[in-house]
Parts: sequence; C-alpha cells; structure tokens
Amino acid sequence: MKLKKVLAIAMASMMVFGLTACGGNDAAPAATDAPAEEAPAEEAPAEEEAPAEEAPAETEAEDAAAEDADAAAEAAGAGGNIGVCIYKFDDAFMTTYRNALQEILEGKGYTVTFMDGKNDQAEQNNQINNFIAQGVDALIINPVMTSAADQIIATVKDAGVPTVLINREPTAEQMSAYDKLVYVGCDARQSGTMQGELILDTENKGDINGDGKVSYIMIQGDPENVDAQYRTEFSVKALTDAGIEVEELDLQRGDWDRNKGQEIAQNDLAKFGDQIEVIFCNNDDMAIGALQAIQAAGRKVNEDIYLVGVDALDAALNEVAAGNMTGTVLNDAQGQAEGAVQAMEDLLGGKTYASGEQSIYVDYVKVTPDNVADFQ
Ligand code: GAL
Repeated sequence: MKLKKVLAIAMASMMVFGLTACGGNDAAPAATDAPAEEAPAEEAPAEEEAPAEEAPAETEAEDAAAEDADAAAEAAGAGGNIGVCIYKFDDAFMTTYRNALQEILEGKGYTVTFMDGKNDQAEQNNQINNFIAQGVDALIINPVMTSAADQIIATVKDAGVPTVLINREPTAEQMSAYDKLVYVGCDARQSGTMQGELILDTENKGDINGDGKVSYIMIQGDPENVDAQYRTEFSVKALTDAGIEVEELDLQRGDWDRNKGQEIAQNDLAKFGDQIEVIFCNNDDMAIGALQAIQAAGRKVNEDIYLVGVDALDAALNEVAAGNMTGTVLNDAQGQAEGAVQAMEDLLGGKTYASGEQSIYVDYVKVTPDNVADFQ
C-alpha cells in the first residue's frame, strides 16, 4: 500500500478510533481452559488506580491530565520495554499487523520483543509469564484463543501490567475485571455485513443462474475466533435481511489458511459445479487459495461465480483490480496498530478504562474495483 494512502486511511480510522470506544460483544465466553502453571503471581493486585469514570478530555483538568499522560508516555518511549505476543507469526494478516506495530513502536523509541505463540495457548501463556518476569512496562497481546481471555486478564492484572489486547475481542464483562486493559480492533460483524453488501451490489445480487436463490459455500476461519463466527453469520444475514433467499451448499473451516481455502474450494467445485454462485471466505488468504481452485476449474469470477474475502492483503487488492475477486474488506492493520500503540501510551500515562468502555474499534472499509486503487 502506498504510504500516502496508508496515512489517509489511518487518519480516517483514528478519527473513528477517537469516537467509538464502546462495549465489547455480548457473546457468552467459552469455558476457560486454564493451564495449572498459569497460577497468578503473588504481587498485591494494583488497586490504587484512579476511579475509572473518565469522560473524553473536555475540561481543563482533563486536558492537563492528558498532557501529563503524553509526557509520561514520551518518557516511557525513551526506554520503555514492550512485550508483544502474536497468536502465530505464520498468518498473512497478522504479519502485516506485526510489521506495522514494530515500525511504530521502534520509531517511537521503545524496545520491543515479539513472541510467536505458534497457535498454542499454553506456549503463549508461558511467553506472557516470561514477559512479566522480565518486568516489561506494557504488553500487547493477540490471544491464541478467545476462550483464554479470562486467564490472560487475571495474569496481567495480578502483575499490574498495562495491557492492550488486539485482534480477538473478549466480552465487555471479561475486560471489566481489569481497568488497565483495553481492546483495540474491529467489530467483525461490520466486515461480514460488508461482504454480503459486495454480493448485493452485483448486477444479479448473487443469483447468477436466476433460480431465485443465492447458492454459496462458506470457507470459514478458525471457528473458535469471533471474527470467523461473525463474518460467517453477518455476510449471509446481509443477504437475507435484503429479502434474498439463500442456500448453503457447504461450510468448512479453512483456519485462515490459503492452502486449506484452495482444497475446500477445489473439492466443492468438483462436487457442486455450477450450482455454486458465491464463495464467501472469512479472509483474503483463503480467498486467494479459492481463486486458484476457481481458475483451475475453468470458472471466471464476476461472470459465473462471485468471490469475496476480508483483509485487503496486497495480493487480494491485485486480484480485485484484475477482476479476479469480486471484492474484499479492508482490515486496517495500520490503523489498528496505531490505535493499539496510542492506547498503550495512554495506559502508560496512567489512564484507566471504565467497564463497558474497553473496546476501541477501527472501521472496516469495502474494497471494490471502483476504489481499489485508493488502497494499492
Ligand atoms: C482476522 C483476519 C484473519 C486472521 C485472523 C487471526 O481478523 O482477518 O486473516 O489474521 O484475524 O486471528
């Protein structure tokens, strides 16, 4: 992505970012699978924080407090040690996100260490404990499993380490356990809805064969991940809310992985052939895989089949521009990384978050052939 455009998008996102701190999703948390070795450290819980009812900085006192926070954050930037836990390095979107975080944090003078959770929550728990033992000033954590949120929050709270969670959103209730914790990310329902809208915007609203219904396959990410759940649900809901009849030919988990996307699409194209009018992929990497299968099967996107993803990876932007993907949805890694660092600096400056105000959202953006050049 060109720098100018990245900045424009990031700035637009930050405007939203400043305004949309709001409650987390209300999905019931899955049972916590807390490994025994994750027993909380002994330190006294940090109870001395200011009461957490800060409104946006409108008054002079609040402005002054914000300035103090900025000064403290700048001081921390001169030598702060930041630990970043990524759920796994081998993930296309999280690689973009990780690179953005690294550039921003190092650019601000922080010493930053990234750990690869290797898609293993027990491994990530150890990494979090190690960072705490090393005395990091703040943590940025992309949890491996949404169901581990309670465990992670209890651990960082006991250690009193300011923490920004990214990419996998816990519930508002879970986050309310610790007022030096905030989630920065996107509302995955929005991306699902936008995927559905990309299909609604086509000339036949997805009903290529004119039989009165849209027949689709759904290639899902990791189903434990709320992004996968919401994108699966809300992409189809956008169609049914518009009064369109739908038929799900298949739903398979592709775990965000290009090769799995390719395999699932290949098998389904062999099995269902021309019945498939739409392939929904929860992310772009799986969509690129599905595109390989579509092309191998002699099908042509936007003529006899539609294909949508999420993330706006560079490879997907190229395919949208070439007419080989119907569209994608920008998952703004740059905006989220900037938001996460901003939230971290606010925490380092002493800010605490009230219950119900611990989710900060960056907007998704629909990408079609009409506006794809703005993102390349
Ligand atoms: C999603 C993203 C996927 C994958 C996933 C990891 O937001 O769209 O490509 O990176 O996060 O949790």
